[in-house]
Amino acid sequence: MTRILFATSEVHPLIKTGGLADVSASLPAALQALGQDVRLLLPGYSQVLDSLKAKKVAAAFSVFAGQPKVRLLTAKMPDTGVPVYVLDAPEYFCRVAGPYQYHLGGDWPDNPMRFGMLSKVAALLGSAASPIDWQAELAHCNDWQTGLVPAYLHAAGGTHAKSVMAVHNIAFQGNFDRDWIKALEIPQQMFHMHGVEFHGNLSFLKSGLQYADHIVTVSPTYAHEIQATEMGYGMQGLLTARKSHLSGILNGIDEDEWNPASDKHLAVHYDENVLAQKTQGKLALQKRLGLEVNEQTPLLGVVSRLTYQKGLDLLLECLPPLLESGAQLAVLGNGDPEFERRYQKLAQRHGGRVSVTIGFDEPLSHQIMAGADIFLMPSRFEPCGLNQMYGMHYGTPPVVRRTGGLADSVVNASLEGGTGFVFDDPGAQALQQTIKWAIECYRDPNTFRRIQLNGMRRDVGWRHSAQRYLDLYNKTLER
Ligand code: ADP
Ligand code: GLC
Repeated sequence: MTRILFATSEVHPLIKTGGLADVSASLPAALQALGQDVRLLLPGYSQVLDSLKAKKVAAAFSVFAGQPKVRLLTAKMPDTGVPVYVLDAPEYFCRVAGPYQYHLGGDWPDNPMRFGMLSKVAALLGSAASPIDWQAELAHCNDWQTGLVPAYLHAAGGTHAKSVMAVHNIAFQGNFDRDWIKALEIPQQMFHMHGVEFHGNLSFLKSGLQYADHIVTVSPTYAHEIQATEMGYGMQGLLTARKSHLSGILNGIDEDEWNPASDKHLAVHYDENVLAQKTQGKLALQKRLGLEVNEQTPLLGVVSRLTYQKGLDLLLECLPPLLESGAQLAVLGNGDPEFERRYQKLAQRHGGRVSVTIGFDEPLSHQIMAGADIFLMPSRFEPCGLNQMYGMHYGTPPVVRRTGGLADSVVNASLEGGTGFVFDDPGAQALQQTIKWAIECYRDPNTFRRIQLNGMRRDVGWRHSAQRYLDLYNKTLER
């Protein structure tokens, strides 16, 4: 049994902005099922403190010189019972609005201190100076918010936990003014190009990539892609140099949370044996969203952050002829204000054909996944992507671009065992042609049903991938 600390900035169902929250809930649970002593560490945002029951104080200590004491609370995750440590520092984490941003969409200016503190506490839990009677052997860090953990472990010297740096998205790097290193107590001698420095700044993500014992990304294809300029976001040189310590493991999905046969957000359930019942969800969704209620109309679904990464500007470009030929579109998302505005305009222009919900709505995300006929995910890059897997699992074949985890998880319908519709060129024309092809297949019930069933029968659970993580931890600990 290995003592694993899973340090993360979000976890479902306590706090979520994207796929990291889903992975932070389901991977630790899968590792626990494999007999591991895995514990979460996360910031004590108000939402987290409010949702977690039976919290106990495990320790109170000060993280950085001159700072007031913080508390480490212990509790259990709802549903899975995975132990969780909460960093209770109300002046940093109990704020209205998002975990990283305030309500106008700007980043909290003290993010370096907030996540530097989280990283430092994770490193403490993996060192002899642990403030509790438990010391991690392996720290699993996730994205830039915990990128300083390997650097702090390195600086601590002595025997300490090994670290695995998981990259869920290399575009988010946590690069800040170099002056922060003083307040964050990072030794000055680590500020150089083979250390925490990146183009004159302090980079949280680069620190993790540099000092971690192993780097893992959330799909094998993305692990290759980030070694090249186009998708490396400036980290490609370092990643290429460290490629013998870099690998990719495809995410799985939580099959209890995302299961059309038992989904708590659906009124009518279905599985591959009663697939016809999926139509009930479609009709209910059309009604709820003010779309023309018609069983025959192909309904396209999108649930996404509305950002450049997700390629949703391409969809805006290529959509009008598809709508004219009779398709409907249901969008749920938020993000870039310009994208939000353009999508809202589209909905106004095509009442009854297009529905756009701006916001974050967990129940609706499940209802779109179940009620749509075809799910759209034309990402420019996609480290893994969970929605295409939810789509396949719900008999809603996805249209995806061949990149990152989309390439690794979706089999093109032109091939034996196809589960979705795949295109290569990141352009509106290729997307349009592929959606057209998907709609043609939809209108041929036998073909479409075969694609749906292939997707629903595919094993997208965590079992295999969690075992791969375990093998990776063991190899890292042996080194
Ligand atoms: P990413 O993490 O890049 O946003 P993923 O596909 O890995 O993409 O995961 C996104 C997760 O966030 C999924 O669980 C998806 O359902 C959810 N999600 C994204 N946008 C919304 C939204 N507006 N409302 C509800 N859930 C959303
Ligand atoms: C990131 C990526 C997404 C991935 C998720 C979970 O948000 O953008 O592709 O699925 O992390 O690993």
